[in-house]
Amino acid sequence: MEQTYVMVKPDGVQRGLVGEVVSRIEKRGLKIVALRMNVISDAAAKEHYAEHAARPFFPSLIGFITSGPSVSMVVAGKDAIKVMRAVNGATNPVDAAPGTVRGDFALDVGRNVVHASDSPEAAAREIAIHFKDSEIAAYSRIDEVCLYE
Ligand code: RTP
Ligand code: MG
Repeated sequence: MEQTYVMVKPDGVQRGLVGEVVSRIEKRGLKIVALRMNVISDAAAKEHYAEHAARPFFPSLIGFITSGPSVSMVVAGKDAIKVMRAVNGATNPVDAAPGTVRGDFALDVGRNVVHASDSPEAAAREIAIHFKDSEIAAYSRIDEVCLYE
């Protein structure tokens, strides 16, 4: 099963949306195989968003993502990367469809509540930044017999 890295960003934590996001992931059928709350270090944040290092919004993005606790997850399931991007919605919440996390709970691109990896390469890279192998649980969820053909 494919794995992806998901974060409820500091704005999502402050707004009490952790349960809402976790609930949407679980109800979709995706399986949470790692989960932690912490304040991400400056070094980990810069590594995580390395692709945006030259962008004008990079300093404010790093400042924000390290400004308070966030919730990190590894989420597994069929096409988990693509499905989680769809669950989260468009990067700019103004363009995000209703029914998505960003389309239901956000307005500003710099306060868009959630993150999810955008490719298999990014997922592997981001999971390794935020979790040790020993922190990722291998287990079957009982509903998988109904969820998958
Ligand atoms: P994320 O990485 O956070 O899941 O978001 P994303 O893939 O949908 O968007 P990405 O292009 O990777 O941008 C990363 C985050 O940077 C902030 N951003 N600000 N001010 C701006 O123009 C701007 N563009 C991007 C957003 O918080 C975005 O989620
Ligand atoms: Mg991104």
